[in-house]
Amino acid sequence: MATNITFHEGSVTSTERAELLKQKGVTIWLTGLSASGKSTIACALEQHLLHLHKFVYRLDGDNVRFGLNKDLGFDEKSRNENIRRIGEVSKLFADSACIVVTAFISPYLADRAVARELHAKAGIPFVEVFVDAPLHVVEERDPKGLYKKARAGEIKDFTGISAPYEAPESPEIHIKTHENDVTESVRIITEYLVANQYIS
Ligand code: PPS
Repeated sequence: MATNITFHEGSVTSTERAELLKQKGVTIWLTGLSASGKSTIACALEQHLLHLHKFVYRLDGDNVRFGLNKDLGFDEKSRNENIRRIGEVSKLFADSACIVVTAFISPYLADRAVARELHAKAGIPFVEVFVDAPLHVVEERDPKGLYKKARAGEIKDFTGISAPYEAPESPEIHIKTHENDVTESVRIITEYLVANQYIS
């Protein structure tokens, strides 16, 4: 870490910002296997909340890897760094009173715990959503043909095949995408946000 740096507080507190903008920040953290439905749910949720006139922004694994995280691969250290950065970015967005929807495999419990802790320290709610589907189901879906390539040994460190996925132990929301469709998933998450007064 750099030395000789000083943190500058703004002139507006988080509470004042939330009151002025009539919205509180929250991070909705989707985690799950490739093809589990994270991106689909994130897009639909973003659209739904925008139509409710909420300030919402989506951060998606594939997309972020085209820019901010284009220097990272899929070995364990790279994934740790990927999620560390996204934890920080989502906290910054949420601190601006934005509803952040993240869609990253984020396979390691410890990395998600770091992101959660970062939010907790800043007093920002962190809603972990387990986007769950059995491996055989996501392998059948295989929309990008990645599981097929991974099984053929053409992609190394592929989550669920040759790299681990550590399922959440106590997520705030558990969605089974082989049982709930996208509309139901969006409804479940929105109801949770309303019930916890994260949105009105
Ligand atoms: S992680 O584990 O959170 O760092 O991954 P993430 O940033 O979400 O990126 C996942 C997307 O990258 C593509 N892809 C891979 N996924 C898993 N393992 C390997 N080896 C891999 N290589 C490429 C894939 O399109 C993932 O997107 P989703 O939407 O999850 O299918």
